[in-house]
Amino acid sequence: MEVIVQPTPAEAARIAAMLIARAIERKPALVLGLATGGTPLHLYDELVRMHREEGLDLSRVRTFNLDEYLGLPPDHPASYRRFMKEHFFDRTNIDPRRTFVPDGLTQDIPRHCREYEELIESVGGIDIQILGIGSDGHIGFNEPTSSLASRTRDKMLTAQTRRDNARFFASPDDVPNSCLTMGIGTILDSRQCLLLAFGSHKADAVAAAVEGPVTSMIPASALQFHADAKVLVDEPAATKLKLRAYYDYAYRHSPVLQ
Ligand code: F6R
Repeated sequence: MEVIVQPTPAEAARIAAMLIARAIERKPALVLGLATGGTPLHLYDELVRMHREEGLDLSRVRTFNLDEYLGLPPDHPASYRRFMKEHFFDRTNIDPRRTFVPDGLTQDIPRHCREYEELIESVGGIDIQILGIGSDGHIGFNEPTSSLASRTRDKMLTAQTRRDNARFFASPDDVPNSCLTMGIGTILDSRQCLLLAFGSHKADAVAAAVEGPVTSMIPASALQFHADAKVLVDEPAATKLKLRAYYDYAYRHSPVLQ
């Protein structure tokens, strides 16, 4: 894994946006895997800015979101479809027909999950997967003890995740207890992963994922098996990393990033 520490979330997000923009220039029909939550907001803002001010063309890009709450209609204020529409899709020239978010109202979960996987495969797989990390080490909604080989499926959320995400709902009791999520195997199939993590409350999870053993207790540690995973963090999220000096040196001397 390549760890890049930046002074602020905005600076880390700028690097992620630059990598995505370069990839779109090389391949206009890029397939992007997307995350929701607080973490990727700076990244979406920066991509929107690049679209408006620098002509970044997203019209041929396809997107697949990692997850969705079960039981929420797409227009629910806390649904991930609505989140993506407000924070990203409606602010760019992305074609809504090329955006995919798992359907939280599906009546046939196994079939819907199988079709989601097949759709990803039919467009050639995900080129760049954006990831956040939960304070319990989850990626997507793959909670601790998720199979490291898992595919898109329904998953029960932990009490910790429901507490962490209560801020997006009118009341903590409104947070659904289950979701649909790409699996860890699905995420590992993407060609590149960009994991973003900001704030001191992510420091333990980041250190465990990057420098700890690979374990389903920290699902993000599975990224150690990925051949091209970059971890972009701000200073507070980097405080528990032991090899910090090495990461900074590698970043300063990276021909791709400098
Ligand atoms: C959401 C997702 C989750 C979040 C994680 C961090 O689509 O994939 O793994 O990235 O829960 O959430 P925030 O960014 O709100 O701290």
